[in-house]
Amino acid sequence: MKKYRSLLPIDEEGYYGRFGGAYIPEILHDNVKNLRDAFYRYVDDDDFQKEFDTLMRDYVGRPSPLYRADRLSEIHKTNIYLKREDLNHTGAHKINNAIGSALLAKRMGKTRIIAETGAGQHGVATATVCALMGLDCVVYMGATDVARQQPNVERMKMLGAKVVAVHSGNKTLKDATNEAIRDWCCNPDSFYIIGSTVGPHPYPEMVAHFQSIISKEIRAQLKEQVGRETPDYVVACVGGGSNAAGAFYHFINNPEVRLIAAEAAGKGVDSGETAATIHAGSEGIIHGSRTLVMQTSDGQIVEPYSISAGLDYPGIGPLHAYLATSGRAEVLAVTDTEALDAAMTLTRNEGIIPALESAHALAVLDKKRFHPDDIVVINLSGRGDKDLHTYLMNNSIN
Ligand SMILES: Cc1ncc(COP(=O)(O)O)c(C=O)c1O
Repeated sequence: MKKYRSLLPIDEEGYYGRFGGAYIPEILHDNVKNLRDAFYRYVDDDDFQKEFDTLMRDYVGRPSPLYRADRLSEIHKTNIYLKREDLNHTGAHKINNAIGSALLAKRMGKTRIIAETGAGQHGVATATVCALMGLDCVVYMGATDVARQQPNVERMKMLGAKVVAVHSGNKTLKDATNEAIRDWCCNPDSFYIIGSTVGPHPYPEMVAHFQSIISKEIRAQLKEQVGRETPDYVVACVGGGSNAAGAFYHFINNPEVRLIAAEAAGKGVDSGETAATIHAGSEGIIHGSRTLVMQTSDGQIVEPYSISAGLDYPGIGPLHAYLATSGRAEVLAVTDTEALDAAMTLTRNEGIIPALESAHALAVLDKKRFHPDDIVVINLSGRGDKDLHTYLMNNSIN
């Protein structure tokens, strides 16, 4: 008996409204079909779910705490709760999806894993589960990101992964993803673990499903702490959209819960140096799905820019393109400077150094007025150790 029912606004073909689908070369058709079949088969399998739940608890350390940030709440005159994905093993939400996907890869008999990474958190998470499960691991990473996220590169190597620096384009996440897809085309027996809610169907649905544990826990934790399961706001940063998808998932069908996505404006939405895809993009196809894309009038991808490697991407997951254009989610564009300021406020008032990506979500507190009675949950997607160099270079620390 089928138990799995996605709570996402998705149809049979993997479309969220007019976004999504699977736009892939012929050579990948079988791969994507096999993946889809395996996902729908195992997502309903009790042994699979049990293994996932056990690893989430005993290996990742879940549930991650929901922490009431008293001093931050006082500053912003509202009630702020931080979902501490930064406390997960490997330091970010990415491990939730890496474990689910690797378990699926094992069930499918795969022995070689491919991944792309921007900030290095998905690369580290994938290298970690490959070490845990005895799988070969190749991670593609833009050369710019290799330089700005050096600690994560060293961690991946120590974990036994091969890290391939990509020198095409502006040497960031888009270029790493292109190379990973190219590898998959040449090695269709490999399993591609995508690190976000991007790519052809079923990836956005599958990644959102593995990340949905975030909002499942938030509901239970809020119930225990404040006596109700739903907050007034859920706030998350959006690169491709996986931490936001996980934080929004169990609230999407509660219209009274307002969803806020923070995208990276870089030096400003109109500066020509931005990664604010929802503000600056238009409908197009990137990495296998129809979504919003930053592109020229003749369809060439515009190189994105953000201080944050994990948000430096010219596309957006199709779920978020749908949530934004349908008005279900509000999208705010946060500049580098605003994110750096928000990171310092959290660090100096709560003793938590956030990832630069998560700092974009925190900056929403400075851009929007909340009511003193509001309950505002911010998904703290990762920790900032990997970003110390960038914080220092930008004089955040004195
Ligand atoms: C800590 C952290 N947060 C957020 C992101 C953005 O990815 P996504 O939008 O898929 O959550 C990344 C990506 O590397 C990350 O490392």
